[in-house]
Amino acid sequence: MTYRTRVWDLPTRVFHWALLAGVVSAFITAKLGGNAMVWHMRIGLFIGSLLMWRLIWGFVGGHHSRFLNFFHGPRRVIAYLQGKADPAWSVGHNPMGALSVFALLAVLLGQFATGLISDDEIANTGPLAKFVSMATALSATGWHKHYGECVIVGLVGMHVAAILFYTFVKKESLVKPMVQGDKALDVQVAASRDDGASRALALGLWAVCAGVVSFVAWKFG
Ligand code: HEM
Repeated sequence: MTYRTRVWDLPTRVFHWALLAGVVSAFITAKLGGNAMVWHMRIGLFIGSLLMWRLIWGFVGGHHSRFLNFFHGPRRVIAYLQGKADPAWSVGHNPMGALSVFALLAVLLGQFATGLISDDEIANTGPLAKFVSMATALSATGWHKHYGECVIVGLVGMHVAAILFYTFVKKESLVKPMVQGDKALDVQVAASRDDGASRALALGLWAVCAGVVSFVAWKFG
């Protein structure tokens, strides 16, 4: 018997693919430099609004998008690595996947925060750079341009490698549920709420996050 279960609600899926598009565009515009930096900063603010939204959705979103429902302690991670995991732990993000999700979100938030106070001493300044000392702005810029970028590229590489491993070695597509929302499961578990009201709530919350970020850029930029 298999149970078709909504795992990823629509807002989480839109968040994921918008984040991918945003991170790739931010990377390309940063490499192009020059006039493209205007777009790099706009895209960075967009990514910031997505991340702020995801932090809130981690508490009020669908069951499997809530942080507490995919926070697996070290014992579960070890059991998972030993192949002794309870199948119910892997319905949403499995114990290892969850670690990479938390790491990605934390590093991207760091990248957003350092971008806000960066100063390249030529033409591009983050909207909040004027509130920190030059030394702080320069070390934030150093992190943003070098280490942050490297860590993100490394984590994304591991993330995509894990997805490919699941697809080709374990013969389980994780991408399809991130597109369509559902998984066919052998176990009966709670589904993620994904109706008109929850989608409207998600959109409203994102509009607030985008409003806050736009206001900061407009007021101090
Ligand atoms: C070809 C590129 C990518 C593919 C195919 C992909 C695919 C996926 C899939 C299938 C999941 C669900 C994993 C699971 O079942 O546990 C996921 C989750 C996630 N991915 Fe990606 N991903 C890609 C790129 C990225 C990039 C570039 C980022 C960010 C820099 C990213 C950040 C995330 C995050 C934060 C989650 C957790 C989603 C959430 O719970 O909100 N992904 N990805």
